[in-house]
Amino acid sequence: MRIDVVSIFPSYFDGLTLSLLGKAQDAGILDLRTHDLRTWTTDRHRTVDDTPYGGGAGMVMKPEPWGQALDDLATGDRPTIIFPSPAGEVFTQATARELADRDHLVFGCGRYEGIDERVFDYAAELGEVRLISLGDYVLNGGEVAVMAMVEAIGRLIPGVVGNPESLVEESHEDGLLEYPSYTKPSVWRDRAVPEVLLSGNHGAIAAWRSEQQLERTRERRPDLLD
Ligand code: ADE
Repeated sequence: MRIDVVSIFPSYFDGLTLSLLGKAQDAGILDLRTHDLRTWTTDRHRTVDDTPYGGGAGMVMKPEPWGQALDDLATGDRPTIIFPSPAGEVFTQATARELADRDHLVFGCGRYEGIDERVFDYAAELGEVRLISLGDYVLNGGEVAVMAMVEAIGRLIPGVVGNPESLVEESHEDGLLEYPSYTKPSVWRDRAVPEVLLSGNHGAIAAWRSEQQLERTRERRPDLLD
């Protein structure tokens, strides 16, 4: 899969060269390219923002650099073009699964009060456009949201996570939270591991884990059970 990320702070994404996603890039499974939006500016000051028409607080990202960037990165293969935004659809595991199936994703990170609205309209001529929110809170820009999305999507690409079994039994994969995990020692600071996990009875262990999943979900995330 190819992923392009456009930002005025491309070094945010240095962290994505670490760990599993770094290995996936070394192995050629993931082709992740970060770009500085300012490389598509043409003025001496490399300007990417200007004051909003109609007045109001803050600055708006100018359309021209974004248009050039999209022209260069969305070259005929109709990629999925994602703009992180608190005003978008909420990102979930289902979104991650859907996007992990694509061949090419382009992420455009907005800053300030956002990007000139016409950019979204123009991007729709070049690919499928999605405005996606990490959750109901406001970040200073899209970078942190894109880091989270790229990690959630990237780990679902076949070959990225060494043991694909570990993708099955985790929170949100079956609509429930994950069951609790324990390792040795069996007693630690007076706290014992639940008896059933030491029993060797696979049926009983599976039943206990399902129960725990339901109980935790009911307690912490009742909205998931609706
Ligand atoms: N940019 C600012 N806030 C955001 C959020 N919650 N999700 C995605 N992008 C954002």
